[in-house]
Amino acid sequence: MDKKQNPPAYTGDIAVQRIDRAREYTAETQEIDFTEEQHAIWADLFAGIHRPYLLEHLCREFIHGLDLLQLDPQRIPTLAYLNERIQPRTGWRIERTIVRYTPADDWYIKFARRNFLVTDYLRTRDQMEFTPEPDMFHDIFGHLPYLTQDFYARIEDKFAPAYLKATPEEKEVIKRLAWYSTEFGLVIEDGRFKVFGAGTISGRSELSNTIMEFYRLGRDNVIDYRGNIFAQLQDHYQTHKADINRIVAGVNELHQRGQMSSQEQGWNVVHALYRQLEIAHDGYLGGEVILAPFDVDTIAQIPKTVYAFNPMFFVCESFDQMDALLDSYLKPIALRSP
Ligand SMILES: [Fe+2]
Repeated sequence: MDKKQNPPAYTGDIAVQRIDRAREYTAETQEIDFTEEQHAIWADLFAGIHRPYLLEHLCREFIHGLDLLQLDPQRIPTLAYLNERIQPRTGWRIERTIVRYTPADDWYIKFARRNFLVTDYLRTRDQMEFTPEPDMFHDIFGHLPYLTQDFYARIEDKFAPAYLKATPEEKEVIKRLAWYSTEFGLVIEDGRFKVFGAGTISGRSELSNTIMEFYRLGRDNVIDYRGNIFAQLQDHYQTHKADINRIVAGVNELHQRGQMSSQEQGWNVVHALYRQLEIAHDGYLGGEVILAPFDVDTIAQIPKTVYAFNPMFFVCESFDQMDALLDSYLKPIALRSP
């Protein structure tokens, strides 16, 4: 493997990668000899998330999956090891790819066959807290604990059959529904907000910012954690719906101008947006991100290529509710005759 190429510059969207298909992994070449430095980066990323004060905010299904997967905190696992633990449980098969960010069409064709792709790219030392580009740590640590469990396989199974029959416009909505559920979704468990999405879990900076928002909502008396927190969230969301729509439209505009492309710039421009729209940046809307009940219509309006900064996170009351909301959009499309 040539590991000496310079990483492509990040321009706001995932960098376009020139793919040499001749180098794609085959059934015989799935395993990689990682360098000691790559194992060390893996170990530091693992230790960075594996802290009690972070783990307590992750949903119990993730923790359970991590238990089942038994990842080595010190070494990047082989695909043979991962497949031994995943395939007998849910039938999903993990495959290596040279592609760093697989185009959605190819991805969903693999998905429909229950093949989950893991890239061969691992972030470098300067991206320990945050990387806009999903890397091997994201793919393995963020997603694979879930792929040991039927409830997740069932959620993942919804996307591909709909995507493969969808119109181009519907495909964009489907990508966003996946983004704000399996990548950045939140769920309520034990009367608390819990992180579910693999994108949030595998990025320490986004994870800690999300957890800070859970605390802020309590501290600023927006959410009373002794009561029904989903009902309170719904109330706030309904009360502020008009402002939220203006913020989403504003974020869309900022995105068109390329101003949502870095994490720091993302937050700064959103603060400026509140001032420009004369929306008070306090109470429910006083955080760095907005937590909202999972809502297909709102998600459909958010620009699809906000990779570096998510302006909102969406919460499901339970995984059953996530199932039902995803089905409400995806099932009618999946059931269309070809
Ligand atoms: Fe992902």
